[in-house]
Amino acid sequence: MRASRYILFMYAAMILTPAALFGYALTGMLGYTGMQLVFQVLLVPFFLAFGILSYIEVYAHRGASVPRSFYKITTTGRRKEQTSRVGNEVMLNIKRFNHDAKHFEESSHSVKVSRFTTVLDALLDIKERQDGTLAMRYSCRMGICGSCAMVVNGKPVLACETSAAKSAVDNRIEVGPMQAHPMLRDLVTDFDDFFGKHSSLDPHLYRKDEKEQWRAKELYKQTHEEVNRFLPYSYCIMCGLCMDACPVVNSNPEFVGPQALSQAYRYHKDSRDQMKGRLTAIDKITGAWGCEFAGACSEVCPKGVDPASAIQLLKAEVFEDSIKTVGKNDA
Ligand code: SF4
Ligand code: FES
Repeated sequence: MRASRYILFMYAAMILTPAALFGYALTGMLGYTGMQLVFQVLLVPFFLAFGILSYIEVYAHRGASVPRSFYKITTTGRRKEQTSRVGNEVMLNIKRFNHDAKHFEESSHSVKVSRFTTVLDALLDIKERQDGTLAMRYSCRMGICGSCAMVVNGKPVLACETSAAKSAVDNRIEVGPMQAHPMLRDLVTDFDDFFGKHSSLDPHLYRKDEKEQWRAKELYKQTHEEVNRFLPYSYCIMCGLCMDACPVVNSNPEFVGPQALSQAYRYHKDSRDQMKGRLTAIDKITGAWGCEFAGACSEVCPKGVDPASAIQLLKAEVFEDSIKTVGKNDA
C-alpha cells in the first residue's frame, strides 16, 4: 500500500473509533437501541483497524523501532542473503576524512533498510551498531536545520531527506562529505568560511535610524507584491549544498557564492530595508559577476530557493544602480 494511503487509513480509523464510541453512548442515553447496535458493530472494525495499523507503524515501517532480534547486520564488506521481513540490505561505502592523517579513508557497512529509511537513518544505524567513531552532523532529521548536508552518489543532498532504498544502485550507496567546505572529520565539514561569506553581505534588515534598528517604531506593512519579491529567497536553511554544487566556488574559494548572494538579494528586495552599500559589495568579480550561471546551485537546493536566478537579478540591480550613479555624476 502506498504510504500516503496507509497513513490516511490510519488517521481515519483513529478518528472513527472515538466517533463510534460517542455515537454508541449518545444513542444509549437517548434510548435508540437499534442505532446503538449499529454503532456497537462499527466500533469493532474501527478499533481493530486502528490497532493493527498502529502496530505496523511502530514495528514494521520504522527501521529504528524494529526490535533488535529482527536485524541481521553483516560484518563490514560482506553481504548476506536478506532474511529479515523488515527490509533490504544495502552497502554504504563511506568516504571519511581522517583529520589526524589528513587524508580520506573508506569504510563499508551493510545496513538493513526499509522503504522509509533515509541515508541519515542508515548512517545513525552504523554509528549505533557498527562503528561508534563515525562522525556526521545532523539535528532536526526533517529537512529544516540544514545540518546533514553531504554527498550521496555524487550529488549534494540532505541525508535526512534522501531515501536509502531509492539511492541504492546495485544495492550500494556512495556517501561522502561536501567538497567545497574545509574538512573536519569523517562527514563533517567546517562552516566558518561559509558563515563568514554569508554575513559579509549584510543579510539583515537595516534602518537608517539607529534606534529603529533595535526597536521598531511602527508596524511595517507590506503589500503581497512587496512580500513576493523576496519571499522565495527567504526559505534558505543555510545547508551549504548550493556552494558545494557550484563549479565557481569549487575553483575559486574567493567567490562569495550562491548562498550569500541569494540572501543579499532577499534583503535588498525587502521594502523595509534601507541599506545603500550592499550593492557595492556585490559589484565585484568575487561577488555577483563571478557567477557563470551554471545553475547547479538551484538544481540541488532542497528548499527551491533558486540562487541562480537571484544572482542574475542582482546583476541587473547592480547594473541599474551604476547607470543611476553615472547619470547623477554627469548632471
Ligand atoms: S540556497 Fe538552498 S542550497 Fe543554498 S544554502 Fe540555502 S537552502 Fe541550502
Ligand atoms: S538533520 Fe536537519 S536538515 Fe537534515
